[in-house]
Amino acid sequence: MSLPDPGRPLDPSFTPGPPQLGITDTEAAVQPAAVASRPSTASGEPPIVEAVGLGRDYPSGDSVVHALRGVDLAVARGELVCVRGRSGSGKTTLLNLLGGLDRPTAGQVRVEGVEITTMRESQLVDLRRRTVSFVFQGFGLVPILSAAENVEIPLRLLEVDGRTRDQRVRDLLELVGLGRRAKHRPHELSGGEQQRVAIARALANKPRLLLADEPTGQLDSETGHTIMTLLRSVVRAEGVTAIVATHDPMMLDVADRVVTLRDGSLEEQARAS
Ligand SMILES: Nc1ncnc2c1ncn2[C@@H]1O[C@H](COP(=O)(O)OP(=O)(O)OP(=O)(O)O)[C@@H](O)[C@H]1O
Ligand SMILES: [Mg+2]
Repeated sequence: MSLPDPGRPLDPSFTPGPPQLGITDTEAAVQPAAVASRPSTASGEPPIVEAVGLGRDYPSGDSVVHALRGVDLAVARGELVCVRGRSGSGKTTLLNLLGGLDRPTAGQVRVEGVEITTMRESQLVDLRRRTVSFVFQGFGLVPILSAAENVEIPLRLLEVDGRTRDQRVRDLLELVGLGRRAKHRPHELSGGEQQRVAIARALANKPRLLLADEPTGQLDSETGHTIMTLLRSVVRAEGVTAIVATHDPMMLDVADRVVTLRDGSLEEQARAS
């Protein structure tokens, strides 16, 4: 497959948001390329996401599972951080808390400086529509919808107008190398292709934070490597920040930073390159 050019920005005029923004195609065309020009590092900027003393206990019969124990983590804009750790070390728990899918039993999560752990459910829904998106191991595509329709879902939820939506979906499918598979349904695509559709969908609303939970877990190693390289390139192209939970050692090659969870605690932080 042909990988997209990492430096190629998607249509920078695309602006996610409610229709009241009223951005017409003409207006959008003269908007500054805000996303493409986002800095890739964050010296001096507040973190995109920050966990402070984050803890999550699960009751388990008469005892308690301490899935996370006081995790501190700050991730800068444009970083690709890999969270590794053995099965049960707390990777999924951490990602779910960072994205507002779950609530901690201790500590705080701040997304772009805003505390999310005390948000109402409706605010968390809005956060997941506009700011944070997820890629899962099992792809999570809607089976009766085509690749293009799956990518379109977040844009429909944001009530983006039809023309902008179509263009954005086309651009995204091109970005992940599936421009010619737009009409295929998930069962007509390979696992790697389905994951590429899922990545395109996760990027549709121009999230500031992409959380991927073992995105290569169901793929063979070669396809997994392709997906990781693709993630690396789309993170650059879209100016998004990504946190990827993985067992996959190949991920270390593409990450800016690797953090390791052991029994719910962050063990070490090392620059991958
Ligand atoms: N809903 C739950 N109820 C009780 N215990 C849970 C629940 N979810 C997770 N746990 C426990 O919390 C710990 C961390 O689980 P988590 O799923 O975060 O690990 P993980 O690192 O993602 O593992 P894997 O690599 O297998 O996906 C595990 O001991 C798990 O059994
Ligand atoms: Mg997990």
